[in-house]
Amino acid sequence: MLRKRSDAAGPVEVRGARLADEFDRAADRYDLLTRLNPGYHRALRTAARELVSRLTRRSGAGPLTLWDLGCGSGLSTRALLDAAGEDARVVGLDASGGMLSHAEAKSWPSGVRFVQAFAQDLPRVAREHGQHDADGAFAAYLLRNVPEDQRDDVVAAIRDQVEPGGWIALQDYHVKDRRVATAVWTVVCWGVVMPLSVVVRGNPAIYRYLWRSVVDNDSTAQLQARLERAGLTGITWRTGTGWQRGILHTVLARRPQADPA
Ligand SMILES: C[S@@+](CC[C@H](N)C(=O)[O-])C[C@H]1O[C@@H](n2cnc3c(N)ncnc32)[C@H](O)[C@@H]1O
Repeated sequence: MLRKRSDAAGPVEVRGARLADEFDRAADRYDLLTRLNPGYHRALRTAARELVSRLTRRSGAGPLTLWDLGCGSGLSTRALLDAAGEDARVVGLDASGGMLSHAEAKSWPSGVRFVQAFAQDLPRVAREHGQHDADGAFAAYLLRNVPEDQRDDVVAAIRDQVEPGGWIALQDYHVKDRRVATAVWTVVCWGVVMPLSVVVRGNPAIYRYLWRSVVDNDSTAQLQARLERAGLTGITWRTGTGWQRGILHTVLARRPQADPA
């Protein structure tokens, strides 16, 4: 297993570094808290299967090459492998060394590698790891954590790391312009998630941040516009089930076979 530290200078700015520190502090209790979140793992598995089914339809049999951006403790990486098969080649990228330590402590087939880097540095990481023509990319709960003025660049970088015709799946919470979803999200965070994080001695600061960042996150229309600005096509949305309806959103989008001139 290779973990390459991102020690080359990159555009890692203070907000991002502070956030990575908070994720480091949350890492020990991250898997426990996600196990207590009904539907979290199911949503990851469903999104991974949706992504992989599109890829195998176009590339046939054979190992797939995938990115898992914002892979954290490896839960989304596991969902990708379960969907794509143990022979898939997956590079998991994350800014938090603490989260990656938990990912690395799990058991993985030889095609899985983890890299500590910011998504904003994806073009450089892809060059260094020779992975710029992946079949697909998954980013679960990543883009909201990227500062708003850098999100278009990150979406474009993700597009560039999958080959023409390849697919991208993004999964995250957003509630902007949705009054009921905002109210449910607020009750879940302040009434359940934050108290639970205190009980299990997690890092409540990251869950206060979680609440705020979801409230401020791009709306469906804003993210749709970002994907369109990146020239992605075949954009398909799906929302979560149960309490996550209207709050959790998964979007699939395709890099066109030929990029617009
Ligand atoms: C909520 S976790 C999700 C982890 C995993 N994808 C999952 O579904 O369980 C979000 C992850 O994104 C990482 N992250 C946040 N901002 C990032 C950035 N700009 N670049 C890379 N990783 C980032 C955090 O360190 C954290 O591990």
